[in-house]
Amino acid sequence: MLAAVAVAQNAADPLSCLKLQDVPVPEAPAGWTRVRVKASSLNMHDVWTLRGIGHDPKNIPIVLGCDVAGVTDDGREVVVYPVIADPDAGFGDETLDPNRALLSERHDGGFAEYIVVPDRCLVDKPAALSFEEAACLPVAWSTAYRMLFTQAGLKAGDRVLVQGAGGGVASAAIALASAAGATVYATSRTEAKRQLALELGAHEAFETGARLPQRVDVVIETVGEATWAHSLRCLRPGGTIVIAGATSGTSPEADLGRIFYQQLRILGSTGSTRHETVAMLRMLESTGLRPHIDRVLPLERIHEGFQAMIDGDVTGKIVITL
Ligand SMILES: NC(=O)c1ccc[n+]([C@@H]2O[C@H](COP(=O)([O-])OP(=O)(O)OC[C@H]3O[C@@H](n4cnc5c(N)ncnc54)[C@H](OP(=O)(O)O)[C@@H]3O)[C@@H](O)[C@H]2O)c1
Repeated sequence: MLAAVAVAQNAADPLSCLKLQDVPVPEAPAGWTRVRVKASSLNMHDVWTLRGIGHDPKNIPIVLGCDVAGVTDDGREVVVYPVIADPDAGFGDETLDPNRALLSERHDGGFAEYIVVPDRCLVDKPAALSFEEAACLPVAWSTAYRMLFTQAGLKAGDRVLVQGAGGGVASAAIALASAAGATVYATSRTEAKRQLALELGAHEAFETGARLPQRVDVVIETVGEATWAHSLRCLRPGGTIVIAGATSGTSPEADLGRIFYQQLRILGSTGSTRHETVAMLRMLESTGLRPHIDRVLPLERIHEGFQAMIDGDVTGKIVITL
């Protein structure tokens, strides 16, 4: 079967390390199930793997792709919960299992016709969602759901700033926070993405770094260095920043004085529990929310999709069909 495989790692030229190759169709061991992948989607995580950031080189070569929607060998339509972990090892929260692995970290991922996953990772695909829509959700939307509702404890009426509106997690956070009754401000570097943020449910959209009409209770951060100082400035005293990524760099000035004097809360967030993924899917069913799909590409054109992501030329999610 055809697969997109990380065959090496190169920080300067990550896409030269991604090859389309024929690989054997996997067999499911006991307790695992084989899924015919119908759609997958791109995440920055794949680019970090190809750059050699946060991914052990001993796990190369590996099939990339953290998001999967497909059909099991016995015909069940599923979304794959993408974290392979033991909830007991994380005191009931599998994202806290020190040995957890996202699909494509230690087990082959979803940019292939077939994937095998632990049975507990199978989640019924809501009938109302297409395979393309469902493939946008496990990583970006579940991450946004955990950031907003579990980590920040978002309530209706809260004021939220989402930085970098064009990103997969950010666009999901705008839609989810708005549907939950929050007042949502979004920032983006481009007018087109600010417009999209409004369409997704943001109440107002601003240029990156602009002054907001009022301070916010919660900031959703995935941009990192480029927006961190602004995120700190925009919080009300006692407000919360939840950070799940740092696309523009991981080492901004800490501004410790502001953090302790304003009593700010800074929370990391990674992935989601299986329960949070199920809850996020239910929220899409009950609200009618759908992910914004930037484009749909066949596997053969996956490099083109990643180049757009690296260039920042993406609004929402890029889907790969198989
Ligand atoms: N912890 C987790 O579980 C988890 C899960 C998913 C993703 N992540 C991480 O979260 C980050 C976001 O991932 P993603 O897939 O949602 O999208 P992404 O494509 O990395 O988008 C992030 C957004 O950041 C903004 N941005 C990037 N560079 C910038 C710069 N130099 N200055 C200002 N803004 C900049 C862009 O927004 P505009 O173009 O709109 O300005 C971009 O759309 C990544 O680092 C990813 O690895 C973590």
